[in-house]
Amino acid sequence: MVVEVSLASLHTDEVRRDPYPFYAELHRHGPVCRVAPGDRYSYVVHGYEASAAVLRDSATFKVMDSTLLGAKPTWEGNRAHAVFMNSVFFTNAPRHTRMRKMFNQAFTPRRVNALEPAIDRMTADLLDRLAEQAAGGAKVDFMSEFAFPLPANVLGELLGVPEADRAWYRPRALALGAILELGGTTPDNVAAANTAAEEITGYFADLAAARRKDPRDDLVTALVQALEADGSQLSEEELLANLIVVFNAGFVTTTHLLGNGLTLLLERPDELARLRGDLSLAPRYVEEILRYEVPTHFSVRWCAQDTEVAGVPIPAGCWVLVLLAAANRDPAVFASPDLFDPDRAETSTLSFGGGAHYCLGAALARLEGQRGLAMLLERFGAAIRLAEPPGTPRQLMLRGHEQLWLHLSD
Ligand code: HEM
Repeated sequence: MVVEVSLASLHTDEVRRDPYPFYAELHRHGPVCRVAPGDRYSYVVHGYEASAAVLRDSATFKVMDSTLLGAKPTWEGNRAHAVFMNSVFFTNAPRHTRMRKMFNQAFTPRRVNALEPAIDRMTADLLDRLAEQAAGGAKVDFMSEFAFPLPANVLGELLGVPEADRAWYRPRALALGAILELGGTTPDNVAAANTAAEEITGYFADLAAARRKDPRDDLVTALVQALEADGSQLSEEELLANLIVVFNAGFVTTTHLLGNGLTLLLERPDELARLRGDLSLAPRYVEEILRYEVPTHFSVRWCAQDTEVAGVPIPAGCWVLVLLAAANRDPAVFASPDLFDPDRAETSTLSFGGGAHYCLGAALARLEGQRGLAMLLERFGAAIRLAEPPGTPRQLMLRGHEQLWLHLSD
């Protein structure tokens, strides 16, 4: 029997602050539920195996793309839309396969591994600055002084965005990301996102032109060269759109991995002390942080043909909400799912999605999380304390703290 549920409470402040009891309730109704009429989504998939199956079957479950929008999108005056719809996030095969191939060629494991010394150097620089600011017992905001600049600098290094331009980028990236939130397409948000998209597109167009003239060892150069070698693979508009979404997808997510991770550790002094005593455990801790409080709670798919998931028939033509964060707490897979336990045997989560749209930056995000948190604990040790209670995040997409005030010296 298929249970029908309402997703209305996902829009309430109470559930936004702590959605996990709601997810636990969904699990009690099986891995897939029908959504009560009136919602944009017809089904919610939250069981781990069911969610993984939906993500893997990209022929049946497609991401939203420009052909699915019904009415023809009016690109002019709607730059944010155009950016998203020209990127890997919102395209399906064969267009997606073509774009993704291009990115996989340029964004290689070699390029990610080669970033490790740069990540360590940037982390050390940021920690020096934090130490200066925190001297004499002053409180510092971990988010703006570390969790934001580290991934922004790493992506800047990877793509070739000069350091001086990264602060300019932040508010624009946040404005662009805001419309991806559940219920985030308010007129004000859309207007701000359009302006941001216009400005960022101009920025990357200039950067790509500069790299064509003067190649460097960065991802933008690798992509413009690959584009020239095989011009049919990616249009200029697609190139720019993908540079923007890679930059956006890559830093706000990782910012929140660092902020959520540190908060979880500060709330669990025994875990913090254990990790500090053995930094080789950082990969385990980061996996558990990603499972327990992932910044990306959901993905959306459109069902292209009549099918069945976990025995529940899903008709063609409906929208499906895949709750990755709920799948990560599926009691059928994770024993005591609401317990933060870095030693758990089952560590394979859906935090980075799965199938054709599996996160391009998973390896990079893990590396930044591991090095960032380990070096922070090594540097400040037992002196790290919360200066103010951490606020409670309310987002489901890009979930994390706006500020996290710390003391770092006695
Ligand atoms: C903790 C950090 C991160 C998390 C939790 C995360 C999560 C995700 C998830 C869940 C998806 C799949 C979306 C879907 O199936 O609808 C995804 C896709 C993607 N991620 Fe990440 N991500 C993170 C970091 C990064 C980084 C560092 C980069 C870039 C350097 C990046 C770039 C991308 C891109 C380009 C896609 C789209 C891939 C495609 O559609 O083919 N992400 N990410």
